[in-house]
Amino acid sequence: MKRLLFFSALLIFIATSAFSRGLQDKVTMNSDATGPIEFSHYVHLEKVGKNCPSCHNTLFNIDPAKPRLTATMKLMEEKAGSCGACHNGSRAFSVKGDCAKCHPTRDVTFENDGGPVLFSHEVHTGMHNCAECHPDIFVPAHGKNPPVSMEGMEKGESCGACHDGGTAFTVKDNCDTCHQ
Ligand code: HEC
Ligand code: HEC
Ligand code: HEC
Ligand code: HEC
Ligand code: HEC
Ligand code: HEC
Repeated sequence: MKRLLFFSALLIFIATSAFSRGLQDKVTMNSDATGPIEFSHYVHLEKVGKNCPSCHNTLFNIDPAKPRLTATMKLMEEKAGSCGACHNGSRAFSVKGDCAKCHPTRDVTFENDGGPVLFSHEVHTGMHNCAECHPDIFVPAHGKNPPVSMEGMEKGESCGACHDGGTAFTVKDNCDTCHQ
């Protein structure tokens, strides 16, 4: 009996380490609204133990015979689905904040005839939620938005949705604040 127990423990150990050795660390999930979401297996296996069933397949299905489980932020917050099962502010940082920890952003430069314009996510996400810009005003993929003229912006397109002299300084002036 003891030998059998030892043997099965050994088998489980071999199986798990073989699994984690062959395991892909970085997994990218995709959302039209925010662009890619990064998840690291290695970081998580260290934080929650090498415990695959704590996530598979109840929170994230990887059985190819069944559909992928998707979730909205609302489900994560209210029903503790998906990442929200742990990212609730006590076990791990909450899905209600720290958006950029899971949804990475970077600064983007628009090349154009008026001189390059640097758009800073850091400045804007301090004041606006991702969903206020994505995907309605900007598809979250650099180069995938058709170019907009200043005339279009004055009518409320693109940056002009906010830079209208109301929500933020107007595009009819302040050229140098945007154009380097
Ligand atoms: C903290 C949660 C968590 C733990 C623990 C975890 N995973 Fe994952 N795993 C994920 C997520 C999230 C995905 C992406 C799911 C998706 O795209 O729907 C994933 C995807 C996968 C995939 C598919 C990869 C691909 O490219 O499609 C495999 C295989 C996998 N995990 C194996 C494992 C194994 C084996 C373990 C244990 C050693 C493990 N996972 C532990 C969260 C976890
Ligand atoms: C712990 C990681 C994590 C954090 C923190 C997080 N998200 Fe998400 N978010 C995800 C994942 C994963 C998905 C995609 C889920 C799927 O496809 O199953 C997603 C999807 C979304 C979506 C598309 C689905 C929907 O609900 O409309 C939006 C928009 C979004 N996140 C915005 C935010 C904002 C804003 C914040 C900060 C308040 C935030 N997220 C914080 C992981 C996170
Ligand atoms: C089984 C519990 C669990 C689930 C499910 C889970 N996480 Fe985590 N995650 C943790 C813990 C614990 C930490 C470390 C504590 C902290 O940073 O607050 C962590 C840390 C992180 C970090 C910070 C990594 C770093 O380098 O410090 C990111 C980013 C993250 N998780 C993203 C996600 C995303 C995206 C999902 C869903 C696809 C997810 N997590 C699902 C438990 C979980
Ligand atoms: C004030 C508006 C605004 C807000 C708020 C905003 N973004 Fe963006 N985002 C942009 C603009 C503008 C671009 C560049 C689009 C282009 O190049 O055509 C962009 C591009 C992106 C890209 C693509 C970057 C690349 O290199 O291709 C991602 C991913 C992204 N945003 C994610 C987010 C996430 C996640 C949030 C919330 C944490 C967010 N954004 C909040 C305006 C915004
Ligand atoms: C809120 C930021 C912002 C302000 C303020 C702004 N612009 Fe622009 N401008 C842009 C961006 C971003 C583009 C590139 C848009 C694209 O490629 O979709 C652009 C494009 C242009 C272009 C090329 C397209 C066209 O309409 O011919 C010119 C020229 C231009 N701006 C001149 C100006 C002048 C002159 C002013 C001041 C009266 C000004 N801009 C104020 C952000 C701004
Ligand atoms: C969802 C609304 C919104 C959109 C869309 C938006 N902005 Fe802004 N932006 C703001 C607000 C609010 C401020 C701060 C208020 C102010 O300075 O009038 C700001 C400030 C700025 C600043 C000053 C940053 C600083 O460091 O002080 C620049 C530059 C800027 N925006 C460029 C852009 C460009 C370029 C675009 C389009 C690619 C854009 N913004 C789209 C809301 C927006």
